[in-house]
Amino acid sequence: SKLEMFVDDLPMMPKIRGFAVKDGAIVPGNLTIGMFHKLWKFHRDLPETRVFAYGLSKESATVPGPTIEARSGVHTHVSWENHLPSRHILPWDPTIPTAMPSSGVPTVVHLHGGVHPPSSDGNSNSWFTSGFRATGPTWSSPISSYPNVQGPGNLWYHDHAMGLTRVNLLSGLIGAYALTDPAVESPLSLPSGPFDLHLVVFDRSFRTDGSIYMNSTGNNPSIHPQWQPEYFGDAIIVNGKAWPRLRVHRRRYRFRILNASNARFFRFSLSNSLPFTHIGSDSVYLSKPVKTRAFLLAPSEIADVIIDFAGSATDSAILHNDAAYPFPTGDPVDETNSKVMKFIIGRQRSPDPSRIPRHLFRLPKPALHRAVTTRYIAMYEYTSPSDEPTHLYLNGKSYEEPATETPKSGTNEIWHVINLTDDNHPLHIHLGLFTVLEQREIKDEEKFKDCMTRLNDAIKCHVDDHAVGKRDKVAKHERGWKNVFKFQPGFVTTILVRFELLGPGNTTYPFDATAEPGYVYHCHILDHEDNAMMRPLKLKP
Ligand code: C2O
Ligand code: CU
Repeated sequence: SKLEMFVDDLPMMPKIRGFAVKDGAIVPGNLTIGMFHKLWKFHRDLPETRVFAYGLSKESATVPGPTIEARSGVHTHVSWENHLPSRHILPWDPTIPTAMPSSGVPTVVHLHGGVHPPSSDGNSNSWFTSGFRATGPTWSSPISSYPNVQGPGNLWYHDHAMGLTRVNLLSGLIGAYALTDPAVESPLSLPSGPFDLHLVVFDRSFRTDGSIYMNSTGNNPSIHPQWQPEYFGDAIIVNGKAWPRLRVHRRRYRFRILNASNARFFRFSLSNSLPFTHIGSDSVYLSKPVKTRAFLLAPSEIADVIIDFAGSATDSAILHNDAAYPFPTGDPVDETNSKVMKFIIGRQRSPDPSRIPRHLFRLPKPALHRAVTTRYIAMYEYTSPSDEPTHLYLNGKSYEEPATETPKSGTNEIWHVINLTDDNHPLHIHLGLFTVLEQREIKDEEKFKDCMTRLNDAIKCHVDDHAVGKRDKVAKHERGWKNVFKFQPGFVTTILVRFELLGPGNTTYPFDATAEPGYVYHCHILDHEDNAMMRPLKLKP
């Protein structure tokens, strides 16, 4: 039976502060956040679902987890505790590189979009089970320290355990993290308080008993008994409820929209055609607001937008999605996954002291002349004789092979990302922020692909002679600094990556970014990341 849409109110996740106030001063915060096995209600008519949830206690744990509000420049220390059972609630696959203790659910938290020392970055091999009874090879401390040495913006925290990221996030280990800086944000007069909301969006499938449905057989079971190249769910969940509704006043709202799906892209639009005014992308504000009527959001991307309901001709609006899955060449959306949530708009115009300033923040421009190294990153999909995907690699290398991306700390680099697959891959780089310079289509793609598959060498295969097809403009709202971007199939996309702080003045990291266990970069389609579209990223002094 089908679940009725728009019958549950949109929940707001509990907020916790990542800092403390002592004698009127803001001081570092010390939090203890647990991961708990509990029941969660995703829809009025669906029985309760077994989930893994983050929270200060089992009772208060939620899916997604609490929203952490931290302060720019003030440390947040988190003691992450695993209270999960001895066995996973979802099927997994031992034939891909996976953390496999004799018992327990391996977990490790990554604060996505954050600039922090390697030991607190949530390296996939730094996993731990309940009570730290088993720990991964690079685990070093039960406490993660986030220095928050970056400007205000939107981050999120999620699990990152080796080979289990897709199932740990599917189980519920996801949460929003906002960095704020009232001194510079308040003068902007953006919508705030009850008019500034987080929307964490993902897709899930459920059995009629309420349990999360995930395939237990792969589509290539003789090679991978469970792994599949992409997980797609048929229900769209926002803040832990399937197709919720939200009553809004006729005024401006700010929505910080995170796509926390494993593999689903969303292209959002509103049924009453109201525009979205983008003020931030991923973890960084834009320099100026940008208006769109529709926008594409890949897994792990964050859009920070303002919607002004005062301009609505209707009393309600549906947030729609029309992104094919897999994106861009998969199935078109249908009745269920084309709808996300509903806004019910008040009739009377509400007073609205907020505004959308013409300028937001002045941010450094990409300093091309300072880029010291050029790299080529090729995305490959490997298939079995029956043409089923077996694994995905970056530069033809497994995760275990020694790091080849070893930037010097404090420098900028040019990366040419060559997508030789049929899918769009959201590549995410830990620590580094980047800006997209250009997207060039590959001409004679088959010839170039053949050469790359044989030689695995972009220079020897004359990438510059092939990357001469049509140039695709980067969308205006994506021309700022990002930590993940959608790399189109059949294109060479060039980015400038900063391995230094973004802010003005102080550009070196206030910690040793070259320490073990280093960082990683990977595709954020979690099923790709797990098998094994992820590589180490080791900074050099
Ligand atoms: Cu959002 Cu390496 O992850
Ligand atoms: Cu991918």
